[in-house]
Amino acid sequence: MTVAFEKICTLDDVWEGEMGPFVTADGTEILLAVLPGGVVRAVQGRCPHQDFPLHRGRLERHVLTCRAHLWQFDLESGQGVNPGDCQLAVYPTRVDGDDVYVDVAGIVPRHSHT
Ligand code: FES
Repeated sequence: MTVAFEKICTLDDVWEGEMGPFVTADGTEILLAVLPGGVVRAVQGRCPHQDFPLHRGRLERHVLTCRAHLWQFDLESGQGVNPGDCQLAVYPTRVDGDDVYVDVAGIVPRHSHT
């Protein structure tokens, strides 16, 4: 697998407890969130249910609720909370100073069964 970290934003762009939408050089839509404690997470930008933009949802601590039909995801792991049988693609991240890097190579966004 090709490792291709690219700079996506800085920590000034997304503060702790917040999230935002970004697009990588190859057009991959991602959601970048900074969880409590400063944990940086990058996941697929659209909901696996019906492709709604996840950044328009609500983030409470590490649980993201999609605004469209209220599916919930744990951004620590990408695992679905409700329903539990779905999953977000999680992209590796790296923080260097204030710069945030993401590697989307070889990781495909998930879609749910329904
Ligand atoms: S599109 Fe996200 S819950 Fe339906």
